[in-house]
Amino acid sequence: MYIIVGGTGHVGSAVAKTLLEGGKAVTVVTRNPEKAAAWRQRGAEVALADVHDMTLLREVFRQGKRAFLLNPNADISSDTDREECKTVRCLLEAIDGSGLEKVVAQSTMGAQPGEECGDLNVLYQLEEGLRNQPIPATIIRAAYYYSNWDTMVGPVTRDGVLSTMLPADPQAPHGRAGGSWKGRCAAPAGADRTDRHTSRRGAETLLP
Ligand SMILES: NC(=O)c1ccc[n+]([C@@H]2O[C@H](COP(=O)([O-])OP(=O)(O)OC[C@H]3O[C@@H](n4cnc5c(N)ncnc54)[C@H](OP(=O)(O)O)[C@@H]3O)[C@@H](O)[C@H]2O)c1
Repeated sequence: MYIIVGGTGHVGSAVAKTLLEGGKAVTVVTRNPEKAAAWRQRGAEVALADVHDMTLLREVFRQGKRAFLLNPNADISSDTDREECKTVRCLLEAIDGSGLEKVVAQSTMGAQPGEECGDLNVLYQLEEGLRNQPIPATIIRAAYYYSNWDTMVGPVTRDGVLSTMLPADPQAPHGRAGGSWKGRCAAPAGADRTDRHTSRRGAETLLP
C-alpha cells in the first residue's frame, strides 16, 4: 500500500493516479470527506486525516509500505513559516515508528537553511529531518510549477496578458513544470527505488 499525503493536490494526485494506473494499492490522505468518493471510484482508499494529527497519521502510515510526503502550503493569512515548520515536525514524528520501508518527499529547488525564506527553509528542515532518520528517503527538489498560474486563467483569457515576475524570455535550464508532471516522476521513484537517494539538483534529475 502506498500512502499519498497531499493526494488530492497538484503533485500528490498525479502520484496517486500514476500508481493506480500501475495497479498499485493507494491510500489518498485528505481532510475533505467530499473528495473521498471520487478517489474511491478511481480505486483508491481514502484516509481522512489532518497532517497535524500525528497519532492518526502514524496509524495511516502503518497501513502502508511506502509513502509520498508533501508539506502543504499554509494559509497565507497565517504565520506560514511557523505553521509549515510545525507540519514538518508532524510529518517526521508520524513516520517515526510507522514501519514504512521507504518515503519520497516533495521539496524545492533552492532549499536552504534560514528563517522565513518561504518554503526554502521549511523544506530544508524536512530534508534534514529525513536525512537524520532511518527510513530510506528520496527527496525531489522541484522548480517552479506552472500550476502557480492557475489563478491567472481568468485574466489571461480576458486580456490576453500573463502578468508574472518571471523574465519574459526565461533561460533557466532546469525549467518549470506542472505539479502533475512532478507527481508522475515521484510515483516511479516511490515504487521502484529502494536506495537512499537525495536529489540535490532538482526534479530534472528524475526526468528523462
Ligand atoms: N508552487 C511551486 O512553484 C513549488 C515549487 C517547489 C515546491 N513546491 C512545494 O510543493 C508543495 C505544494 O504541492 P501542490 O502544489 O501539489 O499542493 P496543492 O495542490 O496546494 O495541494 C495541497 C494538498 O495538501 C493537502 N493538505 C493541505 N493541508 C493539509 C492538512 N493540514 N492536512 C492534510 N492534508 C493537507 C490538501 O488536501 P485536502 O485539501 O484535500 O485536505 C492537498 O491534497 C509545497 O510543499 C510547496 O512548498 C511548490
